[in-house]
Amino acid sequence: MDLGIENRVALVAASSMGLGKAIASQLSREGSRVAICARGEERLLKTRDEIASETGGQVQAFVADVADRNQVSKLVKNVVAELGTVEILVCNAGGPPSGMADEFSLDDYQQALELNLLSTVNLCYEVIPLMKKQKWGRIINMVSISAKQPIENLILSNTARAGVLGFSKSISNQLAPYGVTVNSVCPGYIKTERVENLARDFQEKGQGTSKDFYHSIENTIPLGRLGQPEEIAQAVAFLASERASYITGVALQVDGGYIKALY
Ligand SMILES: NC(=O)c1ccc[n+]([C@@H]2O[C@H](COP(=O)([O-])OP(=O)(O)OC[C@H]3O[C@@H](n4cnc5c(N)ncnc54)[C@H](OP(=O)(O)O)[C@@H]3O)[C@@H](O)[C@H]2O)c1
Repeated sequence: MDLGIENRVALVAASSMGLGKAIASQLSREGSRVAICARGEERLLKTRDEIASETGGQVQAFVADVADRNQVSKLVKNVVAELGTVEILVCNAGGPPSGMADEFSLDDYQQALELNLLSTVNLCYEVIPLMKKQKWGRIINMVSISAKQPIENLILSNTARAGVLGFSKSISNQLAPYGVTVNSVCPGYIKTERVENLARDFQEKGQGTSKDFYHSIENTIPLGRLGQPEEIAQAVAFLASERASYITGVALQVDGGYIKALY
């Protein structure tokens, strides 16, 4: 299927590795011109070169911390200066630490909200005026299955991500008249460094070996395995596409069947 996004300008936040990198690669394969960002410059530039040499597409790298309001504003300005606009926005960030409610202070919540809720709000606020003006846009907010079905040891994620779903649904209604769609993607357990870190935490907290961690997760997934980053990227690319023009305000779980509820 031709997704119809050749030459569209895509900004994929937090994309030097993991899900963000897979999404940026997929959009580049579809012919979009892609801006990637992360805090660490070395890995970011390596990723830029890797994607560009694989796809032959235009890929630009911008060092930025998406949890910092001023850096988000500068990031979007720089992307517009280099690539002309933003037509596809993928809001993504690193994950908050794992743990139960009694392990965290109010400051920890504040940080998690800045990283996983306000970064999305900031990115959207910077980009929405451009999308309204050009009467076309695709916003995809990356959350987690924890937004739909809280995960026991991820209280910070459970709290911040539900807010993103509320924000996404609200702005999807307001932006629909401008041809701008807004959707969220809720990945299940996907093989990235983030999940390897969770496995390490599990082992360090004496809850079992990292093998036990993976087994316990696989047992909860009807498809019987963790997902690959590319399986998230393909869903995101579809939502970013011309072909998804009548889909807005959804929160799509891509989780191998992990979520047990109907909606
Ligand atoms: N993997 C999963 O199974 C899964 C499932 C559900 C939800 N998620 C969520 O999806 C998001 C991405 O997950 P992942 O597995 O791809 O994580 P990852 O492998 O840890 O990669 C995170 C990426 O984001 C960048 N990043 C982190 N914090 C940033 C910040 N403040 N500003 C800009 N860039 C930042 C990192 O680069 P720098 O460190 O250099 O900035 C890196 O490129 C996380 O929020 C995670 O919690 C993941």
